Amino acid sequence: MKAISIGLLGLGTVGSGVVKIIENHQDKLMHQIGCPVQVKKVLVQNIHKEREVAVNQSLLTTSAEEIIDDPDIDIIIEVMGGLEGTKELLLKALKQKKHVVTANKDLMAVHGSELLTTASLNSCDLFYEASVAGGIPILRSLVDGLASDRITKMMGIVNGTTNYILTKMSKQGSAYDDVLAEAQRLGYAESDPTADVDGLDAARKMAILSTLGFSMKIDLDDVKVKGIRSVSEDDLQYGKQLGYTMKLIGIAQREGEKVEVSVQPTLLADAHPLAAVNDEYNAVYVYGEAVGETMFYGPGAGSLPTATAIVSDLVGVMKNMRLGVNGKSAISPQYEKKLKQPEEIYSKYFLRIHVKDEVGVFANITSVFAEHGVSFEKILQLPLKEAEEAEIVLVTHRSSLEDFEQILNKLRDLSAINEIKSSYRVEGGGR
Ligand code: NAP
Ligand code: HSE
Repeated sequence: MKAISIGLLGLGTVGSGVVKIIENHQDKLMHQIGCPVQVKKVLVQNIHKEREVAVNQSLLTTSAEEIIDDPDIDIIIEVMGGLEGTKELLLKALKQKKHVVTANKDLMAVHGSELLTTASLNSCDLFYEASVAGGIPILRSLVDGLASDRITKMMGIVNGTTNYILTKMSKQGSAYDDVLAEAQRLGYAESDPTADVDGLDAARKMAILSTLGFSMKIDLDDVKVKGIRSVSEDDLQYGKQLGYTMKLIGIAQREGEKVEVSVQPTLLADAHPLAAVNDEYNAVYVYGEAVGETMFYGPGAGSLPTATAIVSDLVGVMKNMRLGVNGKSAISPQYEKKLKQPEEIYSKYFLRIHVKDEVGVFANITSVFAEHGVSFEKILQLPLKEAEEAEIVLVTHRSSLEDFEQILNKLRDLSAINEIKSSYRVEGGGR
C-alpha cells in the first residue's frame, strides 16, 4: 500500500509536534485514511541544530525547491512562519497540485483569500485550523458545526502568551519581563514576541475568525488593536477590587449588516466565563441567533496541541483525496464588508486618573461625563502618597466609543487633572 508523502516546512516547536503525532498515532491515521503517512523531507534553516525530536538526518534540507518540486510529495505542511517568501512558496506548491496545511496566521490573515482562490483553482485543499487557538477546533466548528446559524458575536482569548503573562502577573504578582521570558521558553510566544504582546497575533486570528464567522472579508487593517504592554500592576489590582479580571480580548460583533472587530486589554466581570480561562489556555465564546451561547476551550499554543490541529487537517485532506473532492470545501464570503463607526460601537469603560486633591475637581469631571450623557457604575477615590494628589478609578455605564474618546480629550484639557493613567473596555456585569 503506497504511503502518503508529506513535505514538512519547519521543524521547530510545532513541526516537532507534527512529527511526534504522525509517528505515535500511525495506527489511528492508518485506520482513518487506509494507508501509511510518511514525512519524506523536512525544510530547516540549520541542518546541524539539536532537535526536540529524533528525525533521520537525511530527511533534512535547506532547499525549499527540493520539497516543492518533488513529484512524490502530495501534501505540504507549513510550520516555518514568514509572510511574503512563504506565500510565494505555497502558491508554487498549490500550482503544482500539492495540498497545503498551515499554522501560519500571519499569512492567512493577510494573503488567505489569494491562497484559497489558488487552492480552489488547482483542486487543492488549503486547511489552516492550527492558525487560530492552537488545539481548539474552532474554524471547523464555525464553518461546519454552526453552518446553519447566523453568528452575531465572537469573543475570544486567542493569544496564549498574553493570557499566560496576565494570569501570572495577576495571580502571582510576577514581573512582566520574567513571565514573557518563561512563555518564550515554553514555546508559546512567536519568534518575535512583539506580535503577541502588542496584540497583532490576536488581531490576525480575529480577522480569520470574523471572516469565517460573519462570511465577510475582514482585513487585518479593519481590526482595532491595542496590546498589553501598558497594563500595570495597579490596573490589575484595581480591576480585582472592583470585581474584574484583565484579559486580552478579541471581540467581533455584528448588528444588522455592520460589524466591529477589535483586540484590546479588557476588564471582564469575574462571573464572565472567559474570566476563568487562565495560563496559556484559549477560549472562544460564540453567540449564534439560533444556538445561543457556546464556548470552545483548550490549549491555544504549544507543540502538541497545535500539531493536533495540523494532523487533523492532514486527515481531512487525505479523506478528501480518497473521495476525490479536494479543493471543493472553501466558500467565498457571502456579505459585503460594512464596518461600524465609533458612534455605533458601545461598551462600558474603566478609567483611572490622577487629579489635584482640591475642592470641585470631582464635580468638574462628572460634568464632562454628563455633557455626553454617560453615567457611572462604580467609583473609587483614594489619596496618593504625593501631596495634594488623588487617584480616581471609575467604571462607566455603556457609552459610545465616540463619546468616550471625546470625554478623554476634554478631561486631558482640565487643569485639575494631572494624568490619565489608563482606560480599558469593560465587558459583563450588567447593563
Ligand atoms: P519555530 O519554533 O521558530 O520553528 C520554525 C521552524 O521553521 C524552524 O525549524 C526553522 O528552522 C524553520 N524555518 C524558519 N524559517 C525558515 C526558512 N526561511 N527556511 C527554512 N526553514 C525555516 O516556530 P513555531 O513556534 O514552530 O511556529 C511555526 C508556525 O506555527 C508559525 O507560523 C507560528 O505562528 C505558528 N503557530 C505556532 C504556535 C506555537 O504554539 N508555537 C501555535 C500556532 C501556530 P531551524 O530550526 O533550522 O531554525
Ligand atoms: N504565539 C501564539 C500564542 C501561538 O501565544 O497564542 C499560538 O498561535
